Amino acid sequence: MDSSLDDEIRLTALLELLSGSSWVSTHEILKTFDASAQTLAGAIQRLSDWGLTIGSLNGAAYRLESPIQLLRTSRIRGELPPDWQAVMGISVLPVVDSTNTRLLCDWPNQLPWAILAEYQSDGRGRRGRRWYSPFGVNLYLSVAWAFDRTHIELSTLPLAMGVCCIRALAPLGLAGLVIKWPNDLWINEAKLGGILVESCNVGEVLRVVVGVGINVNMDLGHSPPGAVLWTTLRNELTAQDKEVPDRNVLASALLTNIANGLRVFSAQGFGPFLNEWAARDMTRDRLVSVGVPEKITGIACGINEKGALRVKTSEGLILVESGDISIRVVSK
Ligand code: BTN
Repeated sequence: MDSSLDDEIRLTALLELLSGSSWVSTHEILKTFDASAQTLAGAIQRLSDWGLTIGSLNGAAYRLESPIQLLRTSRIRGELPPDWQAVMGISVLPVVDSTNTRLLCDWPNQLPWAILAEYQSDGRGRRGRRWYSPFGVNLYLSVAWAFDRTHIELSTLPLAMGVCCIRALAPLGLAGLVIKWPNDLWINEAKLGGILVESCNVGEVLRVVVGVGINVNMDLGHSPPGAVLWTTLRNELTAQDKEVPDRNVLASALLTNIANGLRVFSAQGFGPFLNEWAARDMTRDRLVSVGVPEKITGIACGINEKGALRVKTSEGLILVESGDISIRVVSK
């Protein structure tokens, strides 16, 4: 009987079989999955569609061209500090549309709850952009949390979450890691990661999803099109002679710092994050161009306590509120 290799669990199992350094014969694959050659060809095509490069010896044997470490719930949970180990829900999914969308659509009973995915078919960035999410090479994760609506000033939360991501990455010892207002993670004038905070009101409760995408091992030849220059942790760490961490360990550090940050933000707001944000401010004292929606140009002078960017222009100081705004560094 020909078993389907369509479902994501079995495709992930196939991937694991192919992820060693040696070739796996077609005969062995067909036997393992009780599948036909035609089904296998379809499965190989699906894996390629997810952004994976599968090597083939004329169809007689296959292997994954670059090795990947898959995400494991048990490994991620095992790296969490004991207080979060006991209460944080974690789901690792091979494939989703978007981890943010999943949490907003299927709101969990237990909080905080985190979803991590190996691949997003509809990864979303800020301002309606797409977030390029090839399989197994980067990190795509979202954390669901709830606030008391009457006590929260949401506009600074994305900036606080930028600080939390910096805290998670700081132990890697990367020089030059900065935040580009409001909450993009940059290094050496290239984008390393981004954060998308989304929310909805349900009675007195404000449901919030914090989505984080970090480029870890992505091949830069495949980076998303557009004006932004991209980089990855692997690229930057290798250039600085440092080890690239296991994605599970990194995921755990991100979840820990995001959950800690959400807890502190609920009680104290943005205050405890402001100085760290300012210390990583990429555009401080630089000439910038900001669309609000008309473009203004001036010298960026940091942020105020509400997270608005201060820009000194020929017409005086302008406060750029967080929201649908783009910022472009035009010179040093
Ligand atoms: C940006 O535009 O810089 C924000 C990118 C946020 C991407 C992450 S990946 C995990 C989560 N799920 C999504 O669809 N988007 C966020």
